[in-house]
Amino acid sequence: MEDVTSANIINCCWWILPGLVALYVINYLLKPYPSKIPPGPRGLSCTWQLLKASWNESVPELAARWAETYGPIMYFNSGGVRFCYLNTPELSRLVLAGDRFRGLTSDRVGNFLSKFTWYDGKDLFFTPYDAITRKKRKLFHKATALYGDGTERFERVVGEEVERMLEEMERRSEGDQDVQMDEVLSRALKFILCILINGERPPNESDADAIVEYDLAVNRLASEDIHLVLMAAPWMRYVPGKYRAACQKVLETRARAETIMFTRMKESFDPKNIRGIADVFLQHRDEPGYEFLKDDEHIKGVLTLLFFAAHLTSRATILHAFLILLHHGDVVKNMQSEVDRVVGERRPRVEDRQSMPYTEAVILEVLRYSTFFPLLCIRNTKENLNVESYFIPKDTLIIVNAWYFHRDPKYWDDPWKFKPERFLDATGQILPADNPVRKNLLSFGIGNRMCPGEVFARSRVFLFLTQILQKFDLLPPATEPLGSCHPDHSVKMLVRQTPPFRCRLRKRTL
Ligand code: HEM
Repeated sequence: MEDVTSANIINCCWWILPGLVALYVINYLLKPYPSKIPPGPRGLSCTWQLLKASWNESVPELAARWAETYGPIMYFNSGGVRFCYLNTPELSRLVLAGDRFRGLTSDRVGNFLSKFTWYDGKDLFFTPYDAITRKKRKLFHKATALYGDGTERFERVVGEEVERMLEEMERRSEGDQDVQMDEVLSRALKFILCILINGERPPNESDADAIVEYDLAVNRLASEDIHLVLMAAPWMRYVPGKYRAACQKVLETRARAETIMFTRMKESFDPKNIRGIADVFLQHRDEPGYEFLKDDEHIKGVLTLLFFAAHLTSRATILHAFLILLHHGDVVKNMQSEVDRVVGERRPRVEDRQSMPYTEAVILEVLRYSTFFPLLCIRNTKENLNVESYFIPKDTLIIVNAWYFHRDPKYWDDPWKFKPERFLDATGQILPADNPVRKNLLSFGIGNRMCPGEVFARSRVFLFLTQILQKFDLLPPATEPLGSCHPDHSVKMLVRQTPPFRCRLRKRTL
């Protein structure tokens, strides 16, 4: 009899316990939000939609639909993570750069990717805005001054690399053949980024390839279908299958990339000859306040993070620019006449940017139209915030929804049309950075953690475009239809890329 009773109790427990857990979860999900919390999707449907979108890498599309429904600011809680999306440029400026909030929204928090890939978070992205991050940013700016506007060295290295690329383009386009643009452009780009880090062209192509291989492995790990799972269940990295494979690939490729970017540089370091970013960091190891650099992992973390931050963004800008230009012959003609007038036959220089407003406007419009980095900033609130009439709790992830407002008709007329003129005034000059139209473009983020690579990125894109259009006309491919340049057709990933494409390059006769 006693046995039957205890069996009954055990049976009941089997049912009661999961029931209680389910009730707790339902109660948690359906619990009304405090009234001052911004509007947004709620409950199981929110988590379900987000999971589905993460799986298809289409969170930006979902966030745009939600922005239509909920307005300028939206908040939701999914799986215990609090999110606040800023759907207008004004609110993004207020929350991330305004005097009241800037100090409270400059942190980022570490995650599985940053801890696993960058030595337990010794990078320069997923970090709090503390003294170490500030010093790393300062050194980065000091280092890139070696490559800044008008510095001969920068122009020479980019110029030489682009010239090698032009020779390859000429060879490949012989007989009016189609050229695989993504291949040719990517090759030049990877060398330029190696030069940025090390100050020298790698002695052989396999070194540059090894760094790209590492970068691709990190990107694979960062893709939403893998990273979301590893964040929730880090132990999955030990279970045979795609999660373990992704982690192993990062470790395997990291060893060689580190040797090229760091170990060799450290062994040949000469304080009298500072070659690139790696040397600037090595140079400061003995300076007061920079003792943290004695830990090699901090330097390795910054160098490998920089390649990661620079590579896919630069690739996306240049490839989107060419694919869009292939669809806009009139824009190409305008750019070429500007190049011919200002530059003529010599090699373009960064200082030519000041006299080439149309080309500058094209670059800004490529950034706006393609918005290949769709959801920006990814900051964490340090304290509770009262923003306008809303309350945003401490430890909320703040995301700038550029995918939405870079094409919101409230800010841009004909938003899905590629129109460089929108960034020019009535006399054809580029609008100043504080012009209201320019202020609505936030491709490089905003506030204390704004992208430190903007100057470098924009100068390099300028040199690529002008040097190529000076020498070649762009024509659609002969062997296949030209792919669409509409941003909806970009390959969906953290930083969206164009699908591979071909075109013909016909040598210009001036
Ligand atoms: C068109 C190209 C690029 C775009 C659109 C871009 C965009 C961004 C954005 C949106 C952020 C976050 C900013 C924020 O939170 O406010 C960022 C951060 C960053 N970017 Fe870029 N970026 C580009 C190129 C580069 C390049 C070439 C480099 C390096 C040479 C670079 C290095 C970084 C670094 C280190 C950070 C993190 C800064 C920090 O957390 O303090 N980026 N970038």
